[in-house]
Amino acid sequence: MPRDGGKPRCDTKIRNEAERYEIALYLRFHSDFGVRFVMGAFDPAGDPFGFRHALGQFATGVTVVTTMTPDGPVGFTANSFASVSLDPPLVMWCPSKSSRRLAPFRDAATTAIHVLPARDRDMAAAFTRHAADWGAIDWQAGSNGAPVIAGALATFLCRAEATYEGGDHLILVSRVVEVLAGETLEPLVFHGGRYGGFDPERR
Ligand SMILES: Cc1cc2nc3c(=O)[nH]c(=O)nc-3n(C[C@H](O)[C@H](O)[C@H](O)COP(=O)(O)O)c2cc1C
Repeated sequence: MPRDGGKPRCDTKIRNEAERYEIALYLRFHSDFGVRFVMGAFDPAGDPFGFRHALGQFATGVTVVTTMTPDGPVGFTANSFASVSLDPPLVMWCPSKSSRRLAPFRDAATTAIHVLPARDRDMAAAFTRHAADWGAIDWQAGSNGAPVIAGALATFLCRAEATYEGGDHLILVSRVVEVLAGETLEPLVFHGGRYGGFDPERR
């Protein structure tokens, strides 16, 4: 494996799959020790790990999307959230077709999308799991019937607008029917598979 002082060189072309795998393992085990990125061209279809790693370089906020079901509230941690349109007010997010929670969100008439503050890292982690403990969460039904969790930076109460195929994910577009503006707090940020905060430029 090409290294310079123990780290991968950034001008290296990756020559074969074995080398790519070795670099992937190196990054996996050393990413906490200053290695930021290894340059090299590859076909994402043949290297899902590398593709995920590259996508993870896009820092995002973190949302929890909720909906009500006959069995009670359901939540889903999602960083695929994005704004779509101001007029009409549309947003979107993409649940995986392999998620055990796909059906309630695919079929939901209404949802609430919560933008999390940095202090809600544990909540983000909780809603990556299938069955979060709603008994420990401060929530109430919103005006559209979806569960609204207290303390978000902003909450978008939504009505389902359109569903599109997106490969192994669905693209769910929702119309925002009400916005709940929360406190001004540091946002929760996700980058490279890790949670963190936001360090704004001070002028
Ligand atoms: C920060 C973060 C963001 C995520 N965003 C998405 C997302 O946008 N879409 C998605 O399908 N899964 C996303 N996931 C994974 C899901 O929250 C969940 O863990 C996964 O779909 C497994 O769901 P299941 O237990 O219902 O099968 C994200 C996970 C994390 C930690």
